[in-house]
Amino acid sequence: MGNKKIAVIGLGYVGLPLAHAFSTKYDVVGFDIAQWRIDELRQGHDRTLELSDAQVKEAIANGMVFTNWLDEIKDCNVYIVTVPTPIDEHKTPDLTPLKKASESIGKVLKADDIVIYESTVYPGTTEEVCVPILEKVSGLKYISSENPATKNQKPKTRVEGFYCGYSPERINPGDKEHTVTKILKVTSGSTPEIAKEIDAFYASVITAGTHLAPSIRVAEAAKVIENAQRDINIAFVNELALIFDKLGIDTHDVLAAAGTKWNFLPFKPGLVGGHCIGVDPYYLTYKAKEVGYHPEVILSGRRINDNMGIHVANKVVKLMIHKGHKVKGAKVLVLGITFKENCPDIRNSRVIDVIRELQDFGCEVDVYDPWADPEEVKHEYGIELLKTIDQRLSTNYDAVVLAVAHNEFKTLDLNSDDDMVVFDIKGMMDKDRVDGRL
Ligand SMILES: NC(=O)c1ccc[n+]([C@@H]2O[C@H](COP(=O)([O-])OP(=O)(O)OC[C@H]3O[C@@H](n4cnc5c(N)ncnc54)[C@H](O)[C@@H]3O)[C@@H](O)[C@H]2O)c1
Repeated sequence: MGNKKIAVIGLGYVGLPLAHAFSTKYDVVGFDIAQWRIDELRQGHDRTLELSDAQVKEAIANGMVFTNWLDEIKDCNVYIVTVPTPIDEHKTPDLTPLKKASESIGKVLKADDIVIYESTVYPGTTEEVCVPILEKVSGLKYISSENPATKNQKPKTRVEGFYCGYSPERINPGDKEHTVTKILKVTSGSTPEIAKEIDAFYASVITAGTHLAPSIRVAEAAKVIENAQRDINIAFVNELALIFDKLGIDTHDVLAAAGTKWNFLPFKPGLVGGHCIGVDPYYLTYKAKEVGYHPEVILSGRRINDNMGIHVANKVVKLMIHKGHKVKGAKVLVLGITFKENCPDIRNSRVIDVIRELQDFGCEVDVYDPWADPEEVKHEYGIELLKTIDQRLSTNYDAVVLAVAHNEFKTLDLNSDDDMVVFDIKGMMDKDRVDGRL
């Protein structure tokens, strides 16, 4: 892609590692609206822990600039958008950050620039939602094979315009093995020529290689179904867990037995949180409904997964009653509040459903998580995290819920022979050391 200068818009879990990867070969400006985020990155620290301090400093040494000032991205010619795509309280897509980022880019966009979206969206978002904003704010035309105004243009009638691409991100926060350059990347572009250019651009840093999709909409759809597929697979084993609970059969034992067949898929029951697996399917169902199709499998999977926290709390309460504990006022310790193990991300953690349900039963719930930021947890969920835990848990608690499989919890001395109830959501302990698991 010749002499390109890249702006990465949104420096979170996705944007920062991507900006770092590109900084090894290109001039990169990292842009984020959050002043505190810019400040900490300038000081060489990434609180998401996706990059080590050494890597942040390496990016700075490579010439990478962190800014929240639009002027500093106006001489870039490739804009990569990695802002959040959450859902609102009605579980419909909230495209506000994506629209705002598009507005910002529109203010600095020039002819021949390329805007590549990486945020997870429903098929059509780039061209139906973002492109009109880019066109309106910049006054430039979108150049696309699909756009009647610009397709088949002859050299003499060439309109000045910009191009778009979509390349979904597949990183897995906390996973130090499958990092951004080691995951094959799907790419796409608004014309065949620009698609090839975008593909080559990514291939220059993504060592795992690229897959050029035939259109932006195909690339958008591919990402959203990856996560919907995972959600549905987990919903299936969660449903099995609900059935086997009633039958008095241990689900993990069944899965271990069934898993000996070569084509049985190895999914485990659990809470489905985070802002990808539990959120992205709603992007797809939103679009499906817009075109007159009411999705059944995807939404029923979502319902099952969203109710697992309540099921866990009910199990814990029943187990406490069986062991002779009084539920009202019982002391329960929940271990872990992040949405997944060995990662500080607390967004859309479904552990909160377990906590709230236990509180509704009248239990006093303590929460300990060595990975989560106490201030963020306080702000997001109103919970004061314990600073430390006494290893002799059974003297202090009626029940312990192992909610997140952080490495630190694997060595805890828990014993179900005590009066204390131990419930293992993630199946991380031996069956005979716990009273119940999903
Ligand atoms: N985290 C993941 O595991 C993951 C994996 C694959 C894809 N994704 C997708 O990638 C996108 C980004 O996710 P994330 O986890 O990096 O989010 P994040 O919340 O960690 O980071 C987003 C960053 O964008 C900034 N931002 C918000 N609005 C902005 C704007 N208008 N202009 C500039 N900056 C803005 C925020 O301040 C924040 O620093 C989402 O669409 C998500 O679904 C995330």
